[in-house]
Amino acid sequence: MKVTVGVSGGIAAYKAAELVRALQQHALDVHVVMTEAAMQFVQPLTFASLTGHKVITSLWTPPESPDSNLDSAIEHIEAAQTTDLLVVAPATANVIAKFAHGIADDFLSTLYLATTAPVIVAPAMNVNMWQHPATQANIEALAARNVRIVPPDSGYLACGMTGSGRLADTPAILEAVLGVLHHRNDLAGETVLVTAGGTREALDPVRFLGNRSSGKMGYALAEAAERRGARVILVTAPTALRPPANVEVIPVTTTEQMRDAVLNRMAEATIVIKAAAVADYRPLKQAEQKMKRSGPLTIELEPTEDILAQAVARRRSGQLIIGFAAETQDAVAHGRTKLMRKRADAIVLNDVSREGIGFDSDRNAVTFLTPTTAVELPEMSKRDLADRILEEVLGLRRPQKVVTESSVIE
Ligand code: PMT
Repeated sequence: MKVTVGVSGGIAAYKAAELVRALQQHALDVHVVMTEAAMQFVQPLTFASLTGHKVITSLWTPPESPDSNLDSAIEHIEAAQTTDLLVVAPATANVIAKFAHGIADDFLSTLYLATTAPVIVAPAMNVNMWQHPATQANIEALAARNVRIVPPDSGYLACGMTGSGRLADTPAILEAVLGVLHHRNDLAGETVLVTAGGTREALDPVRFLGNRSSGKMGYALAEAAERRGARVILVTAPTALRPPANVEVIPVTTTEQMRDAVLNRMAEATIVIKAAAVADYRPLKQAEQKMKRSGPLTIELEPTEDILAQAVARRRSGQLIIGFAAETQDAVAHGRTKLMRKRADAIVLNDVSREGIGFDSDRNAVTFLTPTTAVELPEMSKRDLADRILEEVLGLRRPQKVVTESSVIE
């Protein structure tokens, strides 16, 4: 597999040599692209010697061999089409800004626009530059476009300051690269139906009963499944999120609408993941006009339909149905009860009483519960967690090891 390492101009540019070696040790064919600024820190010869390939440093480099018919101006298209992954380490604030805004004024930024391969960006810069709202907005824009960010570490920086901005360690960048390459297409042939967000039940024309779900967990799952080759149907309650690319989105508002969408489409799915936070009750009656304030108010509620239970009742052979559970106390015990009661294949259990994870956060920690196992997935970004959850889901397809008396004796 061909991996292109983009090196931009920061003091951490020398660490890219270590990354190149680490990638080669995993039998990857590594090619290097350098920006003008990177060459102020490291010579292209270093990378050419390590990789055995010409290092591309400019949009206008003449073709290496006189008999080459590759026009230098289209070299980036060839590089973009043949690479399996682009990893930029270190990525300066300038390169990140160019990527975010589609500026293509050198080889690396042009390659970024021209490639359809996955992209990983490992930023490295001064702490104030990293924390600047402009950089953070650019990082968010890239993450929203499926660019995988390997966040910088904290520590003593070359500029003399201490804080976040140091290039992530080589093992962390390597892990991200191998993760992306390894994951590619392991869900090819699957259709994954994901529910996300919090359903809303109207009280009157302007008010509703809702919950704190932002949809981030469900969207991360949809995006990860798509990235890994699945066809994805995302049934989403209202959120403020941009829908992931290449995913069929079915917007709904109420529990009833979500139920209809899930039941209508679930026959197409090989995997159903119910990350949505669904209203358990709705007002028995909806006021036709905006309710006026006049003393205490009692609202009578009726239970909504249990979508997960209805989906399980229609499960076809081989289909996996995964629920989520948000608990605030005795999480594992309640999660296990829910798993048994709803007869799902697994429940992804969130302890939403924990600070900084769960609802609306970009981070989460869960327990993946099956009837016989409980796998702790520690706190991480919802994007990374989505991949870990999908691995556990795929694991349900592998034959489970049965412990017999004789296997214990052996
Ligand atoms: O959206 P985020 O801000 O990223 O937050 C993520 C999350 C905390 C919302 C998510 O990870 C999560 O835990 N979702 C499930 C929350 C929930 O509603 O849990 P529950 O225990 O009430 O429901 C259990 C399961 O039954 C869920 O899969 C739910 O989709 C399903 N359900 C619940 C009620 C109902 N009427 N029908 C259902 O299908």
